[in-house]
Amino acid sequence: MPWTAHTIIHNGRAIPFEDAKVHALSVGIAYGAAVFEGIRAYMNPATGTLSVFRLEEHLVRLDQGMKFMRFDGAPSRDVMHQAVLDAVRLNAPDDDCYIRLQVQIEERGSMASTGGVGWVCAAIPRERSPKRESGVAAGVSSWTRIADNTMPARIKATANYHAGRIATLQAKADGYDTPIILTRDGKVSETAGACLFLVRDGVVITPSRENDILESVTRDTVLTLAAEHGMPTQERRADRTELYVADEVFVCGTGQELMPVTSVDRLPVGDGRPGPVTMQLQAAYEAVVRGTTNAHAAWRTPVA
Ligand SMILES: Cc1ncc(COP(=O)(O)O)c(C=O)c1O
Repeated sequence: MPWTAHTIIHNGRAIPFEDAKVHALSVGIAYGAAVFEGIRAYMNPATGTLSVFRLEEHLVRLDQGMKFMRFDGAPSRDVMHQAVLDAVRLNAPDDDCYIRLQVQIEERGSMASTGGVGWVCAAIPRERSPKRESGVAAGVSSWTRIADNTMPARIKATANYHAGRIATLQAKADGYDTPIILTRDGKVSETAGACLFLVRDGVVITPSRENDILESVTRDTVLTLAAEHGMPTQERRADRTELYVADEVFVCGTGQELMPVTSVDRLPVGDGRPGPVTMQLQAAYEAVVRGTTNAHAAWRTPVA
């Protein structure tokens, strides 16, 4: 997915997309000192209202990331909130879009630098994966998830994605769409860019937060919607072998939305087709992100 917006906001200034530049040896690049959010805005086809989904929750997580990184002069919540709305208005005011909000150290310095913080925000139209309907083939990776005392797994730091990247490259080389990444002690954690759910005997199960997951906004949304639909939910440790005996498996995240997993290690999940619980939750998610239901209005920030 190449990033091609016509306008990007860089440190508060709306400029041509190609002009958002930092030095190649800035600390953000040299040492991966950057945190980001991927956020989506959705159009309600009936009302023509475009809304950013769960903007405040993304901004809270960004704040947590900036605190963890010990950034001096980090941008405020209000500035980030406005930047997201402005980026959407400037680039994609009439349709669904995906927003990248990124804060990094833009000056040159040392590994321990904390100042010279800058940020960018851009919005691009983003197509949805056709595999939301057909499902993806997953393979359990031989790479393990970054441990909480190695890298900040629950913070959306760009450097974390080195681990996701090598697991994804391995999965693709092995003929899978996506890796499933285990913790160092062999429990299910998540994928390279999404959280994971299993369905067993009608119970909707997801690895609990101590399994080195990113504290995903979509995971929280799915747990809430499942409970509201009368589905029992569990946040707990999950064994690798549960992936092979589960009735359904799906992944979720802002980018991937709700995506069925139809095989794991080439074994079919259930009957090898997207399952009914997954598709029911996918429909409920679609309704809540677009606002075709009145429920959870506070999750939608209109881009007026
Ligand atoms: C590693 C990882 N896990 C989980 C998620 C899902 O997080 P969220 O639902 O907040 O987008 C993402 C997505 O962005 C991710 O990169």
